[in-house]
Amino acid sequence: MSAPNSIQHLVSLQDFSDAALSEVLNLSSNIKRVSVAPSLTGRCAGLLFFRGSLRTRSSFEAAVHQLGGHSINLNAATDFWELEARTGSIMDGRAPEHIKDAAAVLSRYMDVLAIRPALAGTSWTEDRRDEDIRAWSEYARVPVINMESALWHPLQALADLMTMRESLGNLESKQLTVCWTHSPTSASPAVVHSLILAALRQGMNVRVSHPAGYELDEEVMSVASDLAVSKGRELETTQDRKQAAEGAHVIYARSWSSISDYGNPTLAASRRSRTVDWTVDEELLSLGSQTRFMHAMPVRRNLEVPDSVLDGDRSLIYEQAENRLHSQKALLMHLLGS
Ligand code: CP
Repeated sequence: MSAPNSIQHLVSLQDFSDAALSEVLNLSSNIKRVSVAPSLTGRCAGLLFFRGSLRTRSSFEAAVHQLGGHSINLNAATDFWELEARTGSIMDGRAPEHIKDAAAVLSRYMDVLAIRPALAGTSWTEDRRDEDIRAWSEYARVPVINMESALWHPLQALADLMTMRESLGNLESKQLTVCWTHSPTSASPAVVHSLILAALRQGMNVRVSHPAGYELDEEVMSVASDLAVSKGRELETTQDRKQAAEGAHVIYARSWSSISDYGNPTLAASRRSRTVDWTVDEELLSLGSQTRFMHAMPVRRNLEVPDSVLDGDRSLIYEQAENRLHSQKALLMHLLGS
């Protein structure tokens, strides 16, 4: 039996209408200003992590607790086993249980399920399908929240929009520059995919700068391009960091893996070795317009970004992290109708 159509999931922020997005953002700001009455009393959130997390796990658990609910955290490394996502597969491999059954069972205990799926890391074509999180949302009978898949990190984008609105006010026509940074352990492009679409939806102009070989997902950028046209905004990609930083109201640093080298650690390491100068430093920040600095974290200090920027008065990194708490409370209240 498939899930009722009326269940609202959050796999990508694109699942939310502009009205729903505004409602959650406004509620997030209100919650931050005034403490809200516990509205999740007696409700239970299931958190399933197939990869590690510091902010997402702790902010989500704190949000549920502060709203009077209870969370059950399950870690795939220690608490359960591999799960199969493919429909109709003959399960003679490593996974002893199908997501279909796990989702159906957990839906009988929980009011909402939040999932950070694993990434196979061998083929971008396969990982970008986001099969696991899509299977959870197909089979669960309660709202499913994506806590960062290969393609999307909607929770980070919500907190990022909230943070930029706090700092800049109306985001219409403001310029966001996303700047790739060098790191030996880059992540999937999920954070920047979600951020770019979310910023364009709020009427921002977006520039993305990265070295050759770090192009973002073609289909996501095609959606972004259509969005920019429909909103009458600029979307530009360049390998010239300084040009991208000129006039920026926000510079957002992030290291993401090369899709071209995905699944090939030798090629990826070779490409990365040619990018060590890709840092966001004070000189780059000075090219903008009283530029705020943002980073989703974790951040490698003095490699991706110097201490002087991270600890400087333009840095919003801790506001971003704090806003994960407020915006996830708002999201839970929105999804659970409380
Ligand atoms: N930004 C973010 O999602 O942090 P974690 O990976 O620590 O959850």
